[in-house]
Amino acid sequence: MALHSRRRIVLRFFLVTIPAAILLVRLYEARRENSTQYLQSMGRVQERVEFQGYKDFQTTNFNSKQPQRNILVVSHGRSGSTITGDIFNHHPSVFYLHEPLQTVERRYGRLNTTDERYARLMADFLSNVFRCNFSKSVLEDMDHFYRNPRHPRASHAIGSPPLCPYEMTDPRWDPKLCPPMTSESLGSTCRNKYAVTVAKILMSRIAENNIKNILSACDTSDVDCQIIFLIRDPRAVIPSARSVGFFSDQGSPLSLNSLRLFSYQTCKQTEENLVFLKNLPLKWRNRVMIQRYEDFAMDPLKVLSRLYNFAGLPMLDSVKTWLNQTTHPSQSREKMTKEGHPAFFTVDDASVAMNRWRWKVQPHDISMIEHYCSHVMQMMGYTLVDRSYELMSDISIPLFSEDYEAKEWFPH
Ligand SMILES: *[C@@H]1O[C@H](CO)[C@@H](O)[C@H](O)[C@H]1NC(C)=O
Ligand SMILES: *[C@@H]1O[C@H](CO)[C@@H](O)[C@H](O)[C@H]1NC(C)=O
Ligand SMILES: *[C@@H]1O[C@H](CO)[C@@H](O)[C@H](O)[C@H]1NC(C)=O
Repeated sequence: MALHSRRRIVLRFFLVTIPAAILLVRLYEARRENSTQYLQSMGRVQERVEFQGYKDFQTTNFNSKQPQRNILVVSHGRSGSTITGDIFNHHPSVFYLHEPLQTVERRYGRLNTTDERYARLMADFLSNVFRCNFSKSVLEDMDHFYRNPRHPRASHAIGSPPLCPYEMTDPRWDPKLCPPMTSESLGSTCRNKYAVTVAKILMSRIAENNIKNILSACDTSDVDCQIIFLIRDPRAVIPSARSVGFFSDQGSPLSLNSLRLFSYQTCKQTEENLVFLKNLPLKWRNRVMIQRYEDFAMDPLKVLSRLYNFAGLPMLDSVKTWLNQTTHPSQSREKMTKEGHPAFFTVDDASVAMNRWRWKVQPHDISMIEHYCSHVMQMMGYTLVDRSYELMSDISIPLFSEDYEAKEWFPH
């Protein structure tokens, strides 16, 4: 016991002193910045140190004054958000929620996202989730939704001990064995067992489709939020959204109009959000990460490290192995068992998926998307084909560049 605690003191000494020294150097280097920002960043370094220093959160008493840490994965549909969410759901230190705003939809009906009432309900709901505060009606919905084994995105955290007797991966696992959750049981599990809450949220569910409305739920001292904004080439996103019925244009003379409107709105929202994030003070930009789907497709394991690093999570071999298999399936796409609705389909050869639009999408549709999206595509490093047959068909020519304007805006 004494030996154990002495070791812990020694360990803590190293874990605290070395980062503290680094921090001092950084403080000195960036002395022109204002001081509150540094106090905050110092708090964050300490938090990360503590977090990496302990393996078993269940037996660790977290300092209750530390703000609750939340990561929000935000994107348009068909941009890789489901697999990114899965990456977090696979980590045993993550309290993961797939599309939690569906709870708001189920409780109040599907509201127009420009409705002020929706903005209020959304912000209230999120600010409670960010504090691990779950009311009775929210619990009932989560109980039903996140533990449903037929739902492909059940939350490992909500289906595992101490909330259920067995891990979800255990063959003995059965939702019938899990007692109904209470505000106390879910709240304290969320607060004490997990280092971070991760929520994946589609842009179409955010009030006014504006990330600003999410951040307003984070802007208090007891809550800490980070944003991962996923972006994918709109020439892949938009036709894919159409193919899974996110907007409809089946054979009607309006089809070009709906493609036009969807392209215009999608790219406008992406651009407005990018510009909003770019103009945030550095304190907030430090908490933003832009992730392109294409970079993930090229090197999933590299992006896995990037995501975990941003979230302060230690890497796990089990997740590496799982992701490597998921993104390089040995069987063809057709032969694989689909996991429910095609909108949730994530097992795919990522590098093939990246270029699929180049032979699947009509040149006319590509021209229209480029017309409405050229500006944001330029910010994100996507090359316009501008009706060039060669660029369309020669997949040895990549249509995204390694460096791009928006990459420079965020330290991560
Ligand atoms: C949502 O509300 C706005 C105004 O509040 C309106 O212009 C828009 O058409 C509505 N959208 C839908 C899909 O009802
Ligand atoms: C928890 O959420 C409920 C509403 O769902 C609210 O009335 C209560 O004030 C919240 N508690 C805290 C500590 O935020
Ligand atoms: C990923 O899987 C491939 C086979 O599909 C294997 O050759 C490779 O070593 C794996 N890489 C890692 C890092 O696990």
